[in-house]
Amino acid sequence: MLETNIKAAKKFNIDIELIRKKTNSEKNIRVLGDDLTFIHVREAERTKHVHRLHPYLGKFIPQLVEVFLKKYFKKNDTILDPFSGSGTTLIEANVLGMNSIGIELSPFNVLIQKVKTKKYDLLEVEKEIKDALKRLKAFSRQLTRGERYLFENKIKRFETNSAYLKEWFSDRALQEILFYRSIINDYRNQDILKIILSRSARSARLIPHYDLARPKKPIRERYWCIKHRRFCDPIDEALKFINRYSWDTIRRLREFENLRTSAFIKIIQGDARKVKLPKNIKIDGIFTSPPYVGVIDYHEQHRYAYELFDFPRQDELEIGPARKGQNGHAKQAYVDGISEVFRNVSRYLKDGALIFIVANDKFNLYPEIGRRCNFKLIDIFHRPVLMRTERDSNKYFESIFYFKKSS
Ligand SMILES: C[S@@+](CC[C@H](N)C(=O)[O-])C[C@H]1O[C@@H](n2cnc3c(N)ncnc32)[C@H](O)[C@@H]1O
Repeated sequence: MLETNIKAAKKFNIDIELIRKKTNSEKNIRVLGDDLTFIHVREAERTKHVHRLHPYLGKFIPQLVEVFLKKYFKKNDTILDPFSGSGTTLIEANVLGMNSIGIELSPFNVLIQKVKTKKYDLLEVEKEIKDALKRLKAFSRQLTRGERYLFENKIKRFETNSAYLKEWFSDRALQEILFYRSIINDYRNQDILKIILSRSARSARLIPHYDLARPKKPIRERYWCIKHRRFCDPIDEALKFINRYSWDTIRRLREFENLRTSAFIKIIQGDARKVKLPKNIKIDGIFTSPPYVGVIDYHEQHRYAYELFDFPRQDELEIGPARKGQNGHAKQAYVDGISEVFRNVSRYLKDGALIFIVANDKFNLYPEIGRRCNFKLIDIFHRPVLMRTERDSNKYFESIFYFKKSS
């Protein structure tokens, strides 16, 4: 392993021997110049600039994408990610001067990608974000004055038909969220404001501080917080999050603006089994992490956003959703679905195109998927995934399958 990572592993009490046994880090260093553990990479770097504009369960660490793109592709190449999720591949490709195309089923994930990658008039963006925030603050002050004040001044309370929103937010947080949503139409950069609101709504749910990713039920009473090791009160407002994420968004968009290149980024919403790309497009390679079988429900993880903005859901087209489990039937459907995606996009790949698929393939499905798609397996790299966020200190290992399109 790299010295810097060994040092960091000691600091974080990470078991190096297990990593050595399961990953062949010496080979990773020899071939890729990196052991792929990224232990020394600080949280701020893992979530640098627009990568943290909105949380997303199941995204990969940008440094992993960077290592592979730099090693196997060059400037002006075109990279496809048929499961582009929150857009990590697209962003990293662009920074390296590579064109990129993303296909993604979930409309909300597509919104995240679009907001991250679009080119903006940043002065206008800043002005609008600040203006919306100022109006929200004024509204929030009125809420603080109480019911009587609202009644006497004929200030209307916001209503919603969504049982989910009523269940998962305190009354005050919901009023602030609905107010902010009501003013979004007044601005030109509506998508950015939606992302700020959605990110804030995610944080303002009635959830314990330690369980942002997969909360089970709303918490309305004081509770023992595993993260802070003290009793914490349920979240009672959205303003503080909207305030924090407003400034954070401005800063992150600016940071990416300074790094972005003129390489194109094309985003297509749809089912990757069926999507058609422009006929004349020629793709040099794929870097992607598909959904895995029975692990995550990708629409459901952003339920708050779907409830807030009424995006059309297409859950039934998700490949390998958690709700379908991991039994034999689910695995078969998964192999069929993923193979169909790669066969569909394969016709746009140049002969000899390189295909990198990142997966925690504990059922060993990818060699078969590769065969079905006429991809030749060149190599497999292994790496640990060390989750140091929230309560989840689990580690698991994932593989990067390296295929080549056979001619
Ligand atoms: C593991 S995630 C990709 C995460 C991405 N690498 C990132 O860093 O954000 C897999 C993605 O595949 C999407 N997906 C699932 N079924 C799909 C389908 N039939 N067509 C296109 N995308 C699909 C999911 O919505 C999810 O966003």
